[in-house]
Order: sequence, then structure tokens, then C-alpha cells
Amino acid sequence: MKKIAVMTSGGDSPGMNAAIRSIVRYAVSKGLEVLGIMRGYAGLLEDDFVPLNFSDVGGIMEKGGTILRTARCEEFKVDNIRKEAYEILKKRGIEGLVVIGGDGSLNGATLIANESEVKVVGIPASIDNDIHGTDMCIGVDTCLNTVVENIQKLKDTASSHERAFIVETMGRNCGYIALVAGLTTGSEAIIIPEVKIDYQSLADKLLAGRKRGKVNSIVVVAEGAASAYTVARHLENKTGYETRVTILGHVQRGGSPTVFDRLLASRLGAAAVQNLMNGESDVMVGLQSSGIATMKLSEVLENKKELDLSLYELANTLS
Ligand code: F6P
Repeated sequence: MKKIAVMTSGGDSPGMNAAIRSIVRYAVSKGLEVLGIMRGYAGLLEDDFVPLNFSDVGGIMEKGGTILRTARCEEFKVDNIRKEAYEILKKRGIEGLVVIGGDGSLNGATLIANESEVKVVGIPASIDNDIHGTDMCIGVDTCLNTVVENIQKLKDTASSHERAFIVETMGRNCGYIALVAGLTTGSEAIIIPEVKIDYQSLADKLLAGRKRGKVNSIVVVAEGAASAYTVARHLENKTGYETRVTILGHVQRGGSPTVFDRLLASRLGAAAVQNLMNGESDVMVGLQSSGIATMKLSEVLENKKELDLSLYELANTLS
């Protein structure tokens, strides 16, 4: 293998740049040429490539976002349009491709691996932590630190005013961010798509907390479970507490990656290149019990990552 390409795709996540740096520097150290594809599958279809050398990725480890930019590309789902992409990859002499992104991006990766000559390795990067086969995706740890820092701040003002705060986190189909942030901030209640909402018992819990002398109430809700405004309305009606809503939104996707994400991205980037050099394709590299593992993309995409609901029980017991 002589020439590989790398792209970031889907929602950005902190640590993507650290992964790009690792891929480029590891590949260059092994004598490979690397091209970056701008804006994921959209840039691939537009033949928008940039050369990436050792020094091109200097100083990017600590930067949030992605220097290659990213996009969500519906067009890539169309068979004929994908054929154009395969022609472009062939014309450019690309033998291997690393796709950094979430489940939608990994779906595109497996299509390329199966429909073209190019070997493809995926790297899981999504703040949602919803990808089967890896304990953690790149960006999750940084996102959680942002969420926790913000909830701590809200607790200060919630206590001063003796208010209830409903904090909405990202997570369309998966409650991981809300669950771990709720647990690690000692929030009274956590609402996630995986557990049915029972407003009466939530209200009872908040009321019991105040009876014990608590001066604030924090409820963390994942966007995919309910709107924070709906939760606020229900809880205000049932408790009579003055309630405020904070929707954290896209701040959760930004910021300089934590040490955990930098390390994970550096390890997965190098592992992805090594897998391509070993002739692997249609696989994802991920973190399993602190080690780096390689698994078939079909296994990753056909299985749902289960949320560890014992954490939900623990959060309930401890709050
Ligand atoms: O998949 C990552 C994610 O941040 C989700 O948590 C969120 O629902 C979605 O992306 C938002 O996507 P967009 O930035 O395209 O609105």
C-alpha cells in the first residue's frame, strides 16, 4: 500500500484532529502518502482533496472541530452517485481510506469497502457514544466534561434561587451523555430514551429532596427522551417549584479535547493505518477493556450498543 486518504464525516467531535494527526504521522513514518478529503463524503464527491504531510498536522492535537471539516451527505446513499466517488478514488490512486465519524459515516465506510477496490477502516468518533464494539468513541469524554462543568455552574444559581433546573443534553437515540453527566453531578433525576418517563415519581423525588433540606433540583434530560420545556411544565405543575430550562446544544461538540480523547484518538489513528497496511478492510478499530481491538464493520453496524442501565440505578440510589 502506497497511498491512503482520510476523512471526517457527520457531527464533529473533539479529538478528530488528534486522530487525523496520528493517521498522517503514523502513515508517513511507514512511507505512505496521505491525502485528506474535505467535508467527508460531500468533499469526496467533489474531488476535494488536500495533501497531508508530517508538518501539515502540527499543532492540531489540542484543537476542537476538524481541520478537514465535515458534513452530513445524504447523496452518498444513492448507488450511482457512489460510483462517481469510486472513480475519483481510483483516479487518485487511493488504496486505503480511514473514515472518522459516527454510525452514519461507518455505514458509508462499509459500502465503499464492499463496492470498490479501496480498503476501508473506520474510527468511531461521536459524542453520543452509541457505537457498538467500542467502550468509548472519540469526543465523548470531552463532551461529558463540558456538560458537567456547565451543570456545576447551574447548580450555583439553582441553589441561590432555590429553583429547579431542567438541563437538556444531546443524544437523539442514546441517553449516555445525560446518564453519565447526571450521575457525576449528583443530579436528582435523569431522563433518557431507554427508560420510560414517570413524571409523578420524578416530582415525588424532587419533593423528597427538598424535605431533606436540598435547596436546588437538577434534572438532566437527553434530547431524544423529551423536550426540556415539556419536562419543566410537568414538574412545575406537580411540585410548584420555580423552574428554568437550559439547553446545552452544540457547545457539547466543541472545545479542546481532554487527555483521554487525545490518547484514544492517537491510538486509534495509528491502529487504523496499521490495519490498512495489514490488508484489513471493512473493519472498525475501537477501545475494548482498555485495549485497541479490530472488528468487522458489519458486526458494529448490525448491533445496538446497549446502555449500562446499572448506572441509572446507581444514579437514582446516590441522588
Ligand atoms: O450525533 C451527534 C449529535 O451531536 C447528536 O447528539 C445530535 O442530536 C446531532 O448530532 C445534532 O446534529 P446537527 O449538528 O447536524 O444538528
